[in-house]
Amino acid sequence: MARIEIEGGRTLEGTVEVSGAKNAVLPILMASLLTDQPCRLAGVPHLKDVTTTIELLGQMGVEISLGEGFEVGMDASHLSTQIAPYELVKTMRASILVLGPLLARAGEAQVSLPGGCAIGARPVNLHLKGLAAMGAEIDVDSGYIHAKAKRLKGARVVMEGVTVTGTENILMAATLAEGQTIIENAAQEPEVVDLAECLIQMGAKISGHGSTRIVVDGVDALAGYDHRVIPDRIEAGTFLVGAAMTGGRVKLVNVRPDTLDAVVDKLREAGAKISEGPDWIELDMAGKRPKAVNISTAPYPGFPTDMQAQFTALNAVADGTGVVTETVFENRFMHILELQRLGADMQIEGNTVIIRGRDRLTAAPMMATDLRASACLVLAGLVAEGTSVVDRVYHIDRGYENIEEKLGQLGAVIRRLPVS
Ligand code: EPU
Repeated sequence: MARIEIEGGRTLEGTVEVSGAKNAVLPILMASLLTDQPCRLAGVPHLKDVTTTIELLGQMGVEISLGEGFEVGMDASHLSTQIAPYELVKTMRASILVLGPLLARAGEAQVSLPGGCAIGARPVNLHLKGLAAMGAEIDVDSGYIHAKAKRLKGARVVMEGVTVTGTENILMAATLAEGQTIIENAAQEPEVVDLAECLIQMGAKISGHGSTRIVVDGVDALAGYDHRVIPDRIEAGTFLVGAAMTGGRVKLVNVRPDTLDAVVDKLREAGAKISEGPDWIELDMAGKRPKAVNISTAPYPGFPTDMQAQFTALNAVADGTGVVTETVFENRFMHILELQRLGADMQIEGNTVIIRGRDRLTAAPMMATDLRASACLVLAGLVAEGTSVVDRVYHIDRGYENIEEKLGQLGAVIRRLPVS
């Protein structure tokens, strides 16, 4: 299994380009299922989750072409099956995003239930409840969701909890439903907004995206799209935290600073000087040690759960005590036990971890457990004294494009070790 080796003690300095947002690319690729017209998505990052999505769409009969400059072309004019098999869904939970589009376009879908997950239970009950409210007949049998609807009907869908992919599934389904759908308590994440913008380009009638109430007036058919995905705010946030932890100065290009407000606020609180333009952001720590910050995760525009692990790594070396509370997922602290192996002083109490910052961590072998946890371990490796090795980096390849190259560009001494 591939591993990443990091020599601690280097300061991150320089400029790096942020890739397209994984969590926007996945639903937008799936949206190609809604139309028999060709679609083209630009700015697609080279990630394992993208490859899995392409494989899933390909299995359904979608013709895929890979163009220059990270472009993906899709032609779903002839769908051969409406099945998303367990083998693919188990490697990527976002496969559930085929459910809404398939049901709306083909009247039928069979999607494997995703099963367990390293960061929490992550059920899909709200996706199913929303689709049922729109008239879908849904059965769960032999590990598969079987959904059918001649034509979905617009409905008022009140989401009991805020769910990103749940909102996206209902939104996509509603574009081709008969009549009006209102999604209440909708997710406001920038990735939901990017999907909505793309659907509007396809001819969907959507308003209110980016707020908690999205209104969709169903149409009979959708055209293709030619869209460029928004930049990845979590990748950007991860590099900013790395710069803050190492006392560095980093400029990121291809960024949407307006999607990073909660993260930037916390970095300023930690002592970073931050300047930004419409598509760039620069963090300067001026060689200082960060101050500890308190974090509580929440749906957007709150502090993102996908940045929680990185900030626990920052607090591990910060001046003072930071309290980090995870409210979105119930089991997203697996990285804490790994950070303790570097000497971090952290104590878990329910969904909270109390972190007393240390002025030094010492290198140790670490094991990645999920995508964002692995990013946090790499960040810890940047500051730990000695050479750290992070094992199971396939987790990081799901969501970070060329992380070792990009961090190397900023002065980190980091390399991928051959599969042993
Ligand atoms: N939930 C339910 N029932 C549902 C759906 C969700 O109870 O039917 C609960 C979940 O168990 C969780 C909470 O609602 O406690 C929020 O989950 P959500 O559905 O919003 O998560 P998701 O859509 O599965 C997306 C991202 C995640 C990110 C979360 C939260 C994609 C492909 N994934 O997941 O990204 O952490 O939203 O912001 O968009 C990552 O990139 O590393 C990642 C895990």
